[in-house]
Amino acid sequence: MIEHLLSMDQLSASDITMILDTAESLLEVTHRPIKKLPTLRGRTVCNLFYEASTRTRISFELAAKRLSADVINFSADSKSSVAKGESFKDTAWTLEAMGVDAIIVRHGASGAPHQLAQWVKASVINAGDGRHEHPTQALLDLFSIRRRFKDFEGLEVAIVGDVLNSRVARSNVKGLLEMGASVTLVGPPTLVPKSAAAWGARIVYDLDEVISDVDICYLLRVQKERQAEQLFPSDREYAACWGLDSMRLRRMKPEALVMHPGPLNRGVEISAEASESDRAIILDQVSNGLAVRMSLLYLMLGGKDEWS
Ligand code: CP
Repeated sequence: MIEHLLSMDQLSASDITMILDTAESLLEVTHRPIKKLPTLRGRTVCNLFYEASTRTRISFELAAKRLSADVINFSADSKSSVAKGESFKDTAWTLEAMGVDAIIVRHGASGAPHQLAQWVKASVINAGDGRHEHPTQALLDLFSIRRRFKDFEGLEVAIVGDVLNSRVARSNVKGLLEMGASVTLVGPPTLVPKSAAAWGARIVYDLDEVISDVDICYLLRVQKERQAEQLFPSDREYAACWGLDSMRLRRMKPEALVMHPGPLNRGVEISAEASESDRAIILDQVSNGLAVRMSLLYLMLGGKDEWS
């Protein structure tokens, strides 16, 4: 297994299958009355978060605890020495000196996890770096899709919205194409970068052109915090042109699914009705994230005990 997980580029289809198969076994454990395994007893996992997170941080914390690892949560806020000017490198070396085995890092700068992996001996897992990648989100999405459709071959996936600012889109395109699905990127021309033409996905600017044909409509959060200027006229116009509402929901194939990485901007990229419909597996994605992150920690930190 890989030492660090920095990008979906590192994972072949067989690597991804191994991670998802392991997650499948661990998902069963998460439904037991006693959900804890002794697998990573004595190991220490640090969540190092320089950007806000609910799902990723909590699910890595829970995943590590379910495998009996010790967990340190570090947020680069007013309570840490980052507020006194401590550098990323000195923070990394401080954690290293405390003997952590894995660092889960989220950072606003693309490439920060790659840099961190050069400074420390611990395994580094990218929990989202700038606009670059969010590989564990892609893995939990692939797991969620495989649990519903069984096979990626022939699957039509539309990734819709703020592709420009989305690390989720970049990691998902890589993972879905590697597994054999077809991907279409959909969004306003200002939010689909020209460089996306080289990613191997089709690009379409009109959601209504594809909505009836897709097996999965994956909505991206509009990331206003990363937009230096207004890239579409208004939330209302965005919702009308690229949002998934009840009318578009009704035009989808009967078995088609709705996905979103969260957090949601309800009424912008997705309506309340679409997000709460039977087709939406948004909360399944969250639950599945726990099993996928347990799988990664187990495989990367060399868990040896059987759990069956
Ligand atoms: N999907 C995702 O990364 O959510 P958080 O920002 O809450 O971790």
